Formats: sequence, structure tokens, C-alpha cells
Amino acid sequence: MKRKKNHSADKKNAAKEHSGWWGDGPVFVFLYDKRKKEAITNGKAKEILQFVNDSEQVLHESEALRIIRINNEYSHPVLFVDTGKEVGLNLLDHLRMAGYRLAKWAENNSVKTLMIPPLKDDSPKKRNAILQGLCHASYAFDKYKSKKHEKADVEYLFADDMEIDGNSLQALFSGIDLAKNLINEPGCNLTPGVVANIAKGIAQKYGLGIKIRGESELKRDNYNGILTVGRGSKNQPAMVTISYAAKHKKNIRIALVGKGITFDTGGISLKTQDKMYEMKSDMSGAAIVLAAVQVIAELKLPVAVDAILCLAENRPGENAVLPGDIFKAKNGKSIMVENTDAEGRLVLIDGLTEAAELGATHIIDIATLTGAIQRALGNAIGGLFSNSEGLALTITESGEECGEKWWKMPLDEEYSEGLKDKVADVRNITDGGPGAITAALFLKEFVKKDLQWAHLDIAGVAFTANGYKYTEHGATAFGLKTIVDVVKRYSADDLR
Ligand code: BES
Ligand code: ZN
Ligand code: ZN
Repeated sequence: MKRKKNHSADKKNAAKEHSGWWGDGPVFVFLYDKRKKEAITNGKAKEILQFVNDSEQVLHESEALRIIRINNEYSHPVLFVDTGKEVGLNLLDHLRMAGYRLAKWAENNSVKTLMIPPLKDDSPKKRNAILQGLCHASYAFDKYKSKKHEKADVEYLFADDMEIDGNSLQALFSGIDLAKNLINEPGCNLTPGVVANIAKGIAQKYGLGIKIRGESELKRDNYNGILTVGRGSKNQPAMVTISYAAKHKKNIRIALVGKGITFDTGGISLKTQDKMYEMKSDMSGAAIVLAAVQVIAELKLPVAVDAILCLAENRPGENAVLPGDIFKAKNGKSIMVENTDAEGRLVLIDGLTEAAELGATHIIDIATLTGAIQRALGNAIGGLFSNSEGLALTITESGEECGEKWWKMPLDEEYSEGLKDKVADVRNITDGGPGAITAALFLKEFVKKDLQWAHLDIAGVAFTANGYKYTEHGATAFGLKTIVDVVKRYSADDLR
């Protein structure tokens, strides 16, 4: 194709011109991988890519979004999006990032209509990934801001009519928004009772079974882990069980158990002040299982699912549990609380017991459980522990599709030794050692051997202070997409 001679003049003006110099028509999106010099977009791709390769501007600028008008053969304004900007992501996640960035660009530049062309080797999965990026871009937690985020009214057009399941996308993102809103909410406004009420509202809306145990019901039913952790706060602890019992074809019942510490001060084993505010997100697991059951109900998946929220506030108080205190778990094992900051595992064992009593065949628990997993895997990868190769593989594969990376960690019994206590049957910490593994091994003591169980430690990935991928600050809801996808696979005969 002929190159436009004076494209350097365009370059100078591009920045100020982008507020509509093309008029009201749509802006065309061109997705390409700059490093690989490869078009992701189909159609006019070859010619445009040639232009990209020939253009000094594009080659020397690292900016991902730009507009170049190519006259003569291609006269539309084109928004270039480099899908290869981030390293280490798979193609679907690159597309999510591209969707996210192009939506942000449209918002910042008051563009009304974006035309998204077909992709090379197009598929509904790829389209869906771009759409997910757009959805991620529209989230804002601004209820405490006096000036609200103004949602831009951008219209996204796809250049053809490939079938995309918009309802599923919407269901998923109302779940993601719900989980993020709960996680971002400050601890003072989101106590166990408040979460229980929100869960009740959701159960009513979707016609789900719900059982809320407050202090007296927890006492009656011997759920002493949650009670022990919640003793230091005037805000009562609770266990919420929501049951979605679709007419299901198979003999499976999936329990989702979430850690719901609405704030974790550490208790008497008090945490230091550094970033302690982030511990408002210590109920991420509970928020995610609640949102997951909402999405599953909305999608009417043919499988039985129970979501169990283990809710308590961990703080020092007159009646707070003391280091050295011993209590008896529902299964009869005595537990010494050597460190009150290792509280997540204490509330989770009650949830795991409840799951078994409900007749679960598969249990997935999800928890911001240990700082150790954050040190081991950082802020991009979640820790996965499982007694079942099949379940672990399903989770890893689902995660890969969803843009949530999981790494399977060992559950080696050799490390269980450290959990033995001199006075009680077990203690809640070990003397050093691999903290994320020993926490998982502690949980394993309370899971029946014949159940398929996976434990997801999301302490490193649940919350981002400075932004990660398609989250600017705050809750990521990491794990929700994976769980919904796993349940989808189990409901679709995709069993292992
Ligand atoms: N909620 C924390 C884990 C956590 C750490 C979540 C960082 C998110 C980010 C958990 O209750 C905790 O305090 N764990 C202790 C356990 C230790 C006392 C054995 C930890 O990891 O330090
Ligand atoms: Zn803690
Ligand atoms: Zn905690």
C-alpha cells in the first residue's frame, strides 16, 4: 500500500486531535502484537500491519494506544492496541488486557463508538475475553467519593455477528462486582451480621435455601472454631450456608467454603500497623463463594452447590481468645491456639465440617490464608492444594482460561509433624517451616479422606494496592472466575 507522505505531521497532532477529529463515526480497533509484529485482527490487517512496520512513530513509541489515519486505502481512524504489551500472559488474557485498555482509552477520550473487527482464528472464547476486559474497565468503587466516577457511554460494535453468550457474561460480572464491593467495603461497615444479611437478600432473590447460624446456633451445633475467633469482638460471628439445589443429573454435590474474617487485626497476637488496612479484604473467600453461588443460580447450572461463609471479626477484646487457649472442634479434636493471628484455619474447619454434613462429594475452600503463600508465589499466582489430582487439574485448566493462574503446592504429610501439640491434639501454627503448606495440612486434618478437596490460598492475589492487570486498586475477586468455570465443567459431564 502507499504510505501517506506526511504522517509525521499526523503524529504531532494526534494527541490533541483525538477528541473527535474524525467526526462522529466509529473508531476502528486494530489489535496487534508489537513485539512479534503480528496482527491479531483479521481483515485489512496485512496492509495496516505493513503501515505499522513502516511507521517510525509506531516503532519508536511504547504507548499502546494511538490513532493513525491512513488515507487513500484506509481512511478510518484506527486505534492501535498492542496486545503483547504485558509479558507472561496467555492469549486470552492478552485480549482481556486489550479490551480493558481500549475501554479506558475510549472513556478518557470521550469516544462514543468503537468498532471491534474479527480476529484471526476467531472464536467466541476470544471475543468473550475482549468483552471481559471491557467489563473489568467499567468497575469503580466510588461510594465514598464525593465526586463519582462517571460511566462513559461507549458503544462497542463487533464487525460481524458471531454468537456470544451475553447473559453468561452479565451474570459473571454482576458476581464479580458483588464480590469486589464486599471486599472493598471497610471493616466498620461490613461485619459478619451485615454479610449474613446481604447473603439473605441474595438467597431470597434467587430462591435459594439459606441457614444463618449466629452465636447461639454455633454454640448449639458445636462450631467452636468460628466462635473462638469471634470472641474478641462485640460483632457476633456467623456461619452462613446457602444451598442451590438445581435438579441435577449427577451424584455430585459441590461445597464452596470461604474464609470470611471481616477484619483481621491478628487478635491478641496483634499484627503490626504496616498495611493493616488491607485486612478488610480478609473476607475475600466468603465474598467469592457468595458471588459464585449467585452466578451459578443465575446461570441455572445443573448441579447442586452449597456456599458456606465462615464469618468472624478477629480483634483483641476483653473476651478474646488468648494464645495457649484450647478448644474442641466439632469432630472432637482439641486445638491449641498458639497464635491468634492464624485464625483463618480455625474458622475454615467449621465450614469444612458443615460441607461434609451436607453430603458434599467435592469441596473447594478459598481463603486469604497465609502471608507465606504471598512470599512463595507473589501477587500473580494463587496457591492450590488438593488431595485429588483430577480436581487440581480441572482448577488449573479453568484458571488458565479465566486469566487466573494457580500453582499446585505439595501437601506432604512429613510437615504435619510440626502441627502436633504437647498439650492438645493439634496446634494452629508450626515453629517456622513452609507456612502455606502447614496451614493447608492443618485443614486437611479436618477433611474426610474420601472427599475430593481443594484449598485455594489467595492471600497474595486477592487485593492489589497499586493495581494489577484489569484492577486499579483494591479487590481483584481472584478465584471467582475459576470457581464458576470449575462448577460449569462439573455440571457439564466434564468430570475427572
Ligand atoms: N489474613 C492473614 C493472611 C494474609 C497475609 C492475608 C497477607 C493477606 C495478606 C492470616 O490470618 C494470617 O495472619 N496468617 C499468619 C499466620 C501465621 C501467624 C502462622 C501469617 O501468614 O503471617
Ligand atoms: Zn490472621
Ligand atoms: Zn486472616
